[in-house]
Amino acid sequence: MAQVPPRHGGNLQQAALRLGCAPEQVLDFSASLVPFAPPAAVRRSLRQALALQVYPDRSYSALRQAIALRHQVPADAVLPGNGAAELFTWAARDAAALGLNHLPAPGFADYERALRCWGGRWQHEHLQLPHQQVGPQELPEAFRSQLAHLQGPLWLTNPHNPTGQLWSQESLLALLERVPLLVVDEAFLPLVPGGEQHSLVQLASQHPRLVVIRSLTKLFGIAGLRLGYAIAEPQRLQRWSQWRDPWPVNGLAAAAGERLMADAAWTKKVQAWVATERPWLVDQLVRRGWQVSPSSCNFLLVQRGHALENWRQRLEQQHRILVRDCRSFIGLDERWWRLALLDRRRNRRLLRALDQVQATDRA
Ligand SMILES: Cc1ncc(COP(=O)(O)O)c(C=O)c1O
Repeated sequence: MAQVPPRHGGNLQQAALRLGCAPEQVLDFSASLVPFAPPAAVRRSLRQALALQVYPDRSYSALRQAIALRHQVPADAVLPGNGAAELFTWAARDAAALGLNHLPAPGFADYERALRCWGGRWQHEHLQLPHQQVGPQELPEAFRSQLAHLQGPLWLTNPHNPTGQLWSQESLLALLERVPLLVVDEAFLPLVPGGEQHSLVQLASQHPRLVVIRSLTKLFGIAGLRLGYAIAEPQRLQRWSQWRDPWPVNGLAAAAGERLMADAAWTKKVQAWVATERPWLVDQLVRRGWQVSPSSCNFLLVQRGHALENWRQRLEQQHRILVRDCRSFIGLDERWWRLALLDRRRNRRLLRALDQVQATDRA
């Protein structure tokens, strides 16, 4: 039976089942999370929150305060969610009611899932590959002219997934004037050195046509806790609150989130790691014949001009290494992978495994 390409990275349990090993024995370059154990403060707050009899505060006021403080926005412009994914669902409910949505392609597939929940309609807008530079850039001219006449909501990812392109704040602001709703997913922005300068978070707290969504998953390596938040005009968030299940964020995630939002040192550490590890890994890959799209964040879109499915399977079966197979992204095919950055030791392990796969190909 033909294998369906995965629509998301990080399927560690399933890979471990296929390989007959424990999930800890699999090295995962397919989901782009920081490679460090979450800050010690999280474990402390989780232990304290283990009094599981208590309902979480239904308004999440302490968590909202902590997020508001970090971004210098009013607390009623903040809505915590069960991961960014839950908040896409509510943004999509608004967006579906506003006509045809526009989604860059290749792009993150979860916006489609969210729109589908509400019978929303969308059209893909082609985004050219590869781009020229690392660092903030204008949305490409051809992409902007495609958008010139659009009338429906626009969804953007900053930095973009899967390319890692960082869109300058200026170029996003120019678009904002033209659309009935702009949803900007900043899931990876806090990992980008200097990235916050290009955030729309502060504007979102007062702008009626802008929603910014953030995730704690990548920045803190806490995919299992499920925590994200939206910043938008308070009236919009109040409406969303009435649609949701009660207590969408569990007490453990809320307690950890309060601590994490106050941890500015962590973000510095993560950005310093991206600033050193990314150019190092790019250089190593280029020397080995890979073409690497210049990315501003902690993942790299790579290709080598030939189909990589056989290599991917050998990496998984012989080395227990997972990479993000990009066949599910519109416009990409078997020649493309997305690779997360891990720490130096594990990045070296990937390179050694790639050398072996390549060597057996030549033999
Ligand atoms: C661009 C982007 N946004 C959001 C998410 C989801 O984040 P969360 O785990 O908070 O639902 C992902 C996860 O892969 C992602 O790649």
